[in-house]
Amino acid sequence: MIKEYMTNDHRECDNLYAPLEDAISRGDWDEALSLYMPFKEAMLRHFAMEEEVLFPEMEKFMGGGEGPIHVMKMEHSQIRSIIEQMGEAINDKNSQKALGLGETFMILTQQHNMKEEQVLYTMAEQLPFEKGEILEKMKEVKV
Ligand SMILES: [Fe+2]
Ligand SMILES: [Fe+2]
Repeated sequence: MIKEYMTNDHRECDNLYAPLEDAISRGDWDEALSLYMPFKEAMLRHFAMEEEVLFPEMEKFMGGGEGPIHVMKMEHSQIRSIIEQMGEAINDKNSQKALGLGETFMILTQQHNMKEEQVLYTMAEQLPFEKGEILEKMKEVKV
C-alpha cells in the first residue's frame, strides 16, 4: 500500500507538471506562474514524505551509507535545484530556458520514479515494519 500510494503520488505530480509545460510553451506567463507553485509544493511534499518518514524507516533495516537510499536523496536534491531554476526562468519569462529545464526535469524524474517504483517501494513493502502506521505518518507531512 505504500507502493500504491507513492506510485499514485508520482502520477499526480506528473499531472501538475503537464499543464505548466503547456502554459510555458504558449507563453502564458500568468498561467505558468499560478501552476508553478502547486507543482513545486507537490514535488517538495513528495520528497519530504520520503526523506522525513519512509527513508529513515527503511534505513533502520537497510543501513545508511552509500546504498540506493543515498542515491535517491542525491537525485532529490538535483531535481529540487532544477525546479528552483525553472521558477527563476518562469519569473524571467524565458521560455527557452524554462522548457529546457522542464525537459531535464522530466527525464530525471521519470528515471528516478521508475527506480523507486520498481526497487525502493517494492523493498519497502517487504520490510517487516508497520506499513499502515508509516503511511499515516507520511500523509501527515507538510511542507
Ligand atoms: Fe524520490
Ligand atoms: Fe517518489
